[in-house]
Amino acid sequence: MSTADNPLDDPNADPFEIARAAAADIARLTGVERHDIALTLGSGWGKAADLVGETVATVPATEVSGFSKPALEGHVGTLRSILSPSGKRILVIGARTHYYEGHGVRRVVHSVRTAAATGASVMVLTNGAGGVNPSYTPGRPVLISDHINLTADSPLEGATFVDLTDLYSRRLREVARTIDPTLHEGVYCQFRGPHYETPAEVRMAGIIGGDIVGMSTALEAIAARQAGMEILGLSLITNLAAGIQDTPLSHEEVLEAGRAAEPVISDLLARVVEAL
Ligand code: HPA
Repeated sequence: MSTADNPLDDPNADPFEIARAAAADIARLTGVERHDIALTLGSGWGKAADLVGETVATVPATEVSGFSKPALEGHVGTLRSILSPSGKRILVIGARTHYYEGHGVRRVVHSVRTAAATGASVMVLTNGAGGVNPSYTPGRPVLISDHINLTADSPLEGATFVDLTDLYSRRLREVARTIDPTLHEGVYCQFRGPHYETPAEVRMAGIIGGDIVGMSTALEAIAARQAGMEILGLSLITNLAAGIQDTPLSHEEVLEAGRAAEPVISDLLARVVEAL
């Protein structure tokens, strides 16, 4: 499917109906009727997919209704169905559409709505993020305790009033801490991107209560809550945010920090998922 004919781009289309069609595509292509847990893997978390269990099927995201072509050419996003050692069905989403790609928020949250339509009741959202709190140094995983959505947008359409108290489930954070008691928590600030923040914006994020900054997750979490899912959010700190570190930020630095931390945090994530 080309980006030009994505059904989500039709303003008259019902995004939930397209999510149900996507879930039916996944059931047909993987042979797995329902999933229990969905996992979105951000920068640095990719190897977790190999550790959570046995891969039953891998599907190119482009075969599934409403999924976009990946933003970066040559990188094909996939959806994987995994069977965990305890028998849980896990849907791993390796195809994230970011808000900064400019395709609208329906496309950003389509994977979350699809995950809910496959039956998943838990949504695990992972990402790479910058540390505002100076103790959140590169390579550290941080549990997301809450968020501040600075995109000025929402996946909810019309007068849809959804409660966001305990959005990042306290229960699931406690489960994660049974696996790693040293895990700290932080408030995630979502900026629009794709530019990194200015030092002044990072200072603002700290003043208004943010601990980490990133370009995904908050909008996805809102959609997951609307769909009735329980949410666990985990950030890998890939860099100190702009102005907290003296040197300029680079995408390469972010990727490199992700690669370096990947074995440790992927193992952590696999153990947390098995405990959920
Ligand atoms: N800012 C925003 N997004 C990010 C950062 C950052 O410093 N690092 C990784 N993703």
